[in-house]
Amino acid sequence: MPKITFVNEFKTVEVDEHTSVRSAAIKAGINLYQGMYKYVNCRGFGMCGSCKVEVTEGEVTPASLGMRESLEINALVEPTARLACQIRAKTDLKIVSQNPPRWDLRGRAPEEVERVQSMDA
Ligand code: FES
Repeated sequence: MPKITFVNEFKTVEVDEHTSVRSAAIKAGINLYQGMYKYVNCRGFGMCGSCKVEVTEGEVTPASLGMRESLEINALVEPTARLACQIRAKTDLKIVSQNPPRWDLRGRAPEEVERVQSMDA
């Protein structure tokens, strides 16, 4: 069974291939949501975009963005972003939960995007 490591929370959980990354986080006591989205979210239906995470290692199912994810994620700006409720672990994963400044880049000037991204390097 694959293992999911939540990097920011220093937690690793073992999951079966049917468990979403969101469900794994909830079972591990990890909050993937920022601010009010902890209480106001779509509960895993892929409609709100608030469970966005970064997959830094491993393979997930489905391998590419689904229709619902495409509405929330700009793959050019966030190439490793996925919605935790829409993906399952195919192999061991490393997941980075939301980092607000980086995820809030849509519509910002290119130099500001570059500045925020360089802070991660
Ligand atoms: S919980 Fe709303 S998109 Fe995942």
